Amino acid sequence: MALSQFSVAVILLIFFNGAESQFLCKTSSCSGRLTPEVRFPFRLKNSQDSRCGYQPDFDLFCNKRNQTILSLPNAGDVKVEIVDYKFQRLWINDPDQCFPKRILMDSFSLEDSPFIYNYRLDKFTVLNCSYYVETLPFDRVRRIKCMSGANYSVINVPDRDLKAVTNLLPTPCKVITTKKLPLTGMELEEGMVVRWSEPECGNCELRGGDCGFRSNSSDEVVCFNLPKSGIPRGAKYGLIIGVGIPGLLFLIGLVFYICGKCKAFARPNRPTSNLSLSLGHEPTSTKAGLDGPTIESFPKTTLGQSRRLPKSNDTTCAICLSEYQSKETIRTIPDCGHFFHANCVDEWLKLNATCPVCRTSPDDSSATSTPSQSTSVSVSLPTSPRSLSRNDD
Ligand SMILES: *[C@@H]1O[C@H](CO)[C@@H](O)[C@H](O)[C@H]1NC(C)=O
Ligand SMILES: *[C@@H]1O[C@H](CO)[C@@H](O)[C@H](O)[C@H]1NC(C)=O
Ligand SMILES: *[C@@H]1O[C@H](CO)[C@@H](O)[C@H](O)[C@H]1NC(C)=O
Ligand SMILES: *[C@@H]1O[C@H](CO)[C@@H](O)[C@H](O)[C@H]1NC(C)=O
Repeated sequence: MALSQFSVAVILLIFFNGAESQFLCKTSSCSGRLTPEVRFPFRLKNSQDSRCGYQPDFDLFCNKRNQTILSLPNAGDVKVEIVDYKFQRLWINDPDQCFPKRILMDSFSLEDSPFIYNYRLDKFTVLNCSYYVETLPFDRVRRIKCMSGANYSVINVPDRDLKAVTNLLPTPCKVITTKKLPLTGMELEEGMVVRWSEPECGNCELRGGDCGFRSNSSDEVVCFNLPKSGIPRGAKYGLIIGVGIPGLLFLIGLVFYICGKCKAFARPNRPTSNLSLSLGHEPTSTKAGLDGPTIESFPKTTLGQSRRLPKSNDTTCAICLSEYQSKETIRTIPDCGHFFHANCVDEWLKLNATCPVCRTSPDDSSATSTPSQSTSVSVSLPTSPRSLSRNDD
């Protein structure tokens, strides 16, 4: 008896709890699952009540192309690609897909909007060069494709690299503008990520609740419909584990793959260390790295426009796995004649005195005998800057 009354009370409680939040708002979107789900603090102007959004600043609308559009006071209409409700971030882009043009306008700013850059800003100089530049060997120097033509290139150079880049370019380029830009790690063409801090709904979202105004007449933002057992905040850590461990396995696999290749090419029987023999290892590299002057003495070449390597059809550096681009500097290991990006192979040679592909040792005299640690060393090798910078959190 008492028990059933109790359960009725519980059901009513749940019902009212739900009902209170559901005066609210169904989620909406511009084109079903193809476009971001819109819910508090955002609202879709034409299909959701004004109480569904936090403030007019968070109002979105759908344009004729079914794009989800946010109007920023000093940046115009931007397309919303993704809304990350849990971490209160917004990926915005240009509706016409040339975001760089937009962000380079002098008037572009996030002021007077509730959004801030998700990244540190750094000063960039944008150059217009009267010739074709593909890429330059600097992480953050990018050709802005949508502003460049067949006979000219608009490139974006962080001020710290400006001098080096200017020295590298064949003739001077025109400065279009200098501007503080976010260090997104994305291509500028891909738009950028901004975040908001008010209202604080991320915690509620992380725990699986619905965020919204307490009632029609209240401006207090509360969390409704929290699941009893709650999705733990550990979901975040789950993600890290879910992404991190496969990533690590991939790296380890890569190392084994490269090592497998190396062994296949390894010179037979050049025992250099009793220790490695007594441990039953193959007598491959047992050397510590080379010193700077030795590394510098190996031949260097700067690739021309054709990007063709001397005497080779290899197009990819086996260390960082990225393709060679014109104007990049490559270094040859004498004895075996394998090529690598100079900056990649220099790092390698500091740690290993052997060619990473064939294990030929280019310099016997300067190396010292130590046990091989090639596996643990390889894991910490520089990967391509792009894959690193993807990690934007
Ligand atoms: C926009 O979305 C609606 C509904 O999802 C669809 O019927 C319409 O064809 C879409 N329009 C365009 C231009 O994609
Ligand atoms: C860059 O220079 C070319 C001519 O070399 C010109 O056509 C183009 O409009 C310039 N772009 C910008 C953004 O100034
Ligand atoms: C670009 O260069 C090519 C050959 O150098 C020339 O034929 C073409 O007219 C140029 N285009 C422009 C827009 O200047
Ligand atoms: C809350 O607002 C909605 C839509 O504006 C309205 O239909 C509803 O009656 C309101 N509820 C209360 C309790 O005022």
